[in-house]
Amino acid sequence: MRRTAEPEGDDPAPLWWQRAVFYQIYVRSFADSDGDGVGDLEGIRSRLGYLELLGVDALWLTPFFRSPMADHGYDVSDPRAVDPLFGDLAAFDRLVAEAHGHGIKVTIDVVPNHTSDEHPWFRAALLAPPNSRERSRYVFRDGRGPDGSVPPNNWPSVFGGPAWTRVHDGQWYLHLFSPRQPDLNWDNSEVRADLVETLRFWLDRGVDGFRVDVADGMAKPQGLPDMPEYLLSIDRSATHSPADPRFDADEVHEIHRLIRKVADEYPGSMAVGEIWVETDEQFARYVRPDELHLGFNFTLTTTDFDADAVRRAIDHSLEAVSRSPSPATWTLSNHDVDRHVTRYGGGSQGLRRARAMALVQLGLPGVVYLYNGEELGLPNVSLPDWALQDPLWERTGHTDRGRDGSRVPLPWEGSSVPFGFSAGKPWLPVPEEWAGLTVETQLEDPESMLSLYRHALELRKTHAGFGGTELEWYGAPPGCFAYRRKGGGLICALNTSGGPVPLPPGEVLLASGPLDGTDLPPETAVWLV
Ligand code: GLC
Repeated sequence: MRRTAEPEGDDPAPLWWQRAVFYQIYVRSFADSDGDGVGDLEGIRSRLGYLELLGVDALWLTPFFRSPMADHGYDVSDPRAVDPLFGDLAAFDRLVAEAHGHGIKVTIDVVPNHTSDEHPWFRAALLAPPNSRERSRYVFRDGRGPDGSVPPNNWPSVFGGPAWTRVHDGQWYLHLFSPRQPDLNWDNSEVRADLVETLRFWLDRGVDGFRVDVADGMAKPQGLPDMPEYLLSIDRSATHSPADPRFDADEVHEIHRLIRKVADEYPGSMAVGEIWVETDEQFARYVRPDELHLGFNFTLTTTDFDADAVRRAIDHSLEAVSRSPSPATWTLSNHDVDRHVTRYGGGSQGLRRARAMALVQLGLPGVVYLYNGEELGLPNVSLPDWALQDPLWERTGHTDRGRDGSRVPLPWEGSSVPFGFSAGKPWLPVPEEWAGLTVETQLEDPESMLSLYRHALELRKTHAGFGGTELEWYGAPPGCFAYRRKGGGLICALNTSGGPVPLPPGEVLLASGPLDGTDLPPETAVWLV
């Protein structure tokens, strides 16, 4: 199915994704239609009315492909099939058609860095001898030491432990993530051809774009050199340093050019990459005109609630795309990081700060990625040991509790657990305290987080103040900032200091909390025109 690009608004025909608000659906945790306790495609379809009411433009669905679920779907055994846990292709087609009927685009994950160990290619590789065609689709090497019992290099896996596992005949295979996620060899032409087939498969079914998992991985440097010793102790969540040989190899850009070529055959489609690089220069290379349409910039996920730090993060994100046709992207949370209500201190303080940052993020030019549940102000959940499922927990010898706390199923309605998420037992326990955070409760409350998001999204879409793509900074008291959208004139002021400060001049459009006469209270942001 080929579509034409749709011009929008009064700017010279921006494409739909250039200023879209995307909503990330962690499929396992959004809505369960069949009572098995795991979210699914029909569950999403049944909640499209909510997503339209919320006012998002596009969805990003996390992997729903056939998978043994060792990393909850980021271990794919067939990238062109729907896992029965989530539905089937007919359910996917219904979801895409209905989402489009609601005016919502649908983008999906692709996972090109690795497959599942249950992918037919990997099964065949284990049965085949060293140096065979089957093994050459992955990264198999002999070990070091007299008997080859030392891994080929010193690379750690992102999930803890070595990035190598030894097989029955003594060779080792590379897995940057868990041993159940063997890395593909991107020098192999079959690997490239298979990704092209996968992209076309889903584009032909009507998807509007892709999120490319581990977009700075895939290519590996010649000779697989050791990692510098000093990097070995770095925390898993740290962005990838230019000195880390596991990521950001020059050859990765050829893969993005390949993805772009396919997308260009389907006008209006797009790809966004998961890019955890450290510097703006590294980032910029991914969004050159013939590479990715968008890159995830994660700087806000690692920035404290501090006006100077947030301003620096915004400037860096803008700088990183300044020589590219790509707009900046803004992300406060996703399924890999702690939810920002919790990062900002939790409780009522975390909520106040999250409300303020919602206005900061939604006032900015470019693309916003919301993570399901942030519009409800969900915090991270401290789960008991028995409930933890993220491979990180086991791989780190129970030292890193992993990412399950930000993946707890969404509370929809009613007063008892699991609040309409499922007729069965949810795959992670949902806290009783979320009774006050359900969609149903918040829709009725004009002061709720959900009402704030709805109002902000509506203004962002319809108010002329949000026009243009550039920002300028105003002078502001210490601990505060104010930016102005150059094209439209919207002003956003944030106060992270300990006391009230005077509001900038203008008419208030929306505030994240109660204003104090002509003052902007601490931990509050405001939009003015
Ligand atoms: C990405 C995903 C993460 C997954 C990893 C391995 O970082 O966002 O959830 O575990 O890739 O596929």
